[in-house]
Amino acid sequence: MLKIGILEGSLRRASLSRAAAWAASNLLPDDAQAVALANPGTLPLFNQDLLDEGMPDAVAAFMSQVESVDALLIVTPEYNWSIPGGLKNAIDWLSRKTPSPLAHKPVSIWSVSPGLLGGARVHESLRQTLLSQDMIVMAKPEVQIAGAIGKLDVDAGAITNPETEAFLRAHLSSFTAFSNTWAAV
Ligand code: FNR
Repeated sequence: MLKIGILEGSLRRASLSRAAAWAASNLLPDDAQAVALANPGTLPLFNQDLLDEGMPDAVAAFMSQVESVDALLIVTPEYNWSIPGGLKNAIDWLSRKTPSPLAHKPVSIWSVSPGLLGGARVHESLRQTLLSQDMIVMAKPEVQIAGAIGKLDVDAGAITNPETEAFLRAHLSSFTAFSNTWAAV
């Protein structure tokens, strides 16, 4: 069973991207399961002084969670054409452990936006950051959920657009196969 850690890019309660992530986790193939990772908002802002005083408990727990999964699915908004600060902070913390809990793990990036570009521009910057951690990025297809307000029901935690649901189901099948291929290397 492939364990896929879901890393949320948004901190807010009524998040579109979080709704997409958890609705989609019901679309995984039978040989994969979704594992919740701590939301980046639970972590302190990275500061080398904190690390020097001993890894904060919340960070240590988060690192263990990431170590325990086989692959990552990061579902995030785009902030100002780039990575939301909370998510970048979470990655910065993970990068301070040797070996990095991210290293050699397959990862897929999904962006979600009410806008028409679907947060397309976060992919390039996030992909670069993940490559710096030796992650194995599934580069194509890029998953961008544009016009997300019309495709998701946040209160129900559901995908309401059938084409979006079918696309995400197919993508999760491909990503599971991709991850299993790399796990065997
Ligand atoms: C945004 N938003 C946004 N959207 C986008 O498509 N491209 C962008 O560059 C930005 N930039 C941006 C910056 C900041 C600081 C905020 C707060 C928002 C809008 C964003 O996509 C929208 O608020 C989403 O609903 C946020 O995702 P969640 O929280 O719903 O998952």
